[in-house]
Amino acid sequence: MPTDLRDWYDTPLYYDIIFDADTPREATFLETVWTIFGEKSRTRRVLEPACGSGRLVIEMARRGWKVDGFDGNEHMLAFARERLKKEGLKARLWPDWMQSFQVTKNGHYDLAHCLVSTFKYLQTEADALACMQRVATALKPGGLFVLGLHLSDYAAEKEEHERWKARRDDIEVVCNTHTWPPDRKTRLEALRTRLKISHAGRTHLQETRWHFRTYNARQLKALLRKVPELELMICYDFTYDLDTPRQLDDSYPDIVLVLKRQVQ
Ligand SMILES: C[S@@+](CC[C@H](N)C(=O)[O-])C[C@H]1O[C@@H](n2cnc3c(N)ncnc32)[C@H](O)[C@@H]1O
Repeated sequence: MPTDLRDWYDTPLYYDIIFDADTPREATFLETVWTIFGEKSRTRRVLEPACGSGRLVIEMARRGWKVDGFDGNEHMLAFARERLKKEGLKARLWPDWMQSFQVTKNGHYDLAHCLVSTFKYLQTEADALACMQRVATALKPGGLFVLGLHLSDYAAEKEEHERWKARRDDIEVVCNTHTWPPDRKTRLEALRTRLKISHAGRTHLQETRWHFRTYNARQLKALLRKVPELELMICYDFTYDLDTPRQLDDSYPDIVLVLKRQVQ
């Protein structure tokens, strides 16, 4: 079967289908973490940098949050807007970049989040730092930034492989992701995602290749030291189990940081 080479974010429906299963669990985690570590506030304003297809935008809006989000891909934004409209929900979405985004008001948000390694699209230290600083400025003092990313093991010699399947209505999507070993010098790792989409008796394949910036625990700590406005409160992992906090070290590959905007 021929494989279509394309950016998987240009086909938001398939992205949305394969990532949707975790959405309620992630939203519950975000709300609970905010209740425990955030400052009491009736406004509940949340910012999602690189909000993609809007799965979390919609879930947080359903739960009564005032949601703002942006993304670099117009197809993803259009899909998110359409879903909001269908559900009669509101959120402010705009096209923008994680490394240079502008919000209408600084010191405005109670919560910001960037999960599932999206932050690793920022391929340089300067862009990663710029994003962290912009998020810190956008947050209220006491506001939280929840950042989830996969840590790299520079000793790894083999590629990692993940495969999962999801369905919505009569569309089935099988997702196969390969991650090649990280390059310590360039701080990049190559990834490839293949989606097998079956719909109305027809199947097609599409493939996306890209690079992520790599972090081990030490490199992530070094980045955090450059943004003293954000204090690390606690870490979890991608199970989002609040009873099992993690250390920021290399013992576990998937880390979720809870960072709190300091009162200056
Ligand atoms: C893995 S998806 C995450 C989407 C959403 N946050 C979620 O949790 O489902 C990554 C998103 O990041 C966007 N993206 C990648 N690099 C970006 C950048 N530098 N600035 C803004 N958006 C970016 C892509 O267009 C895509 O929608």
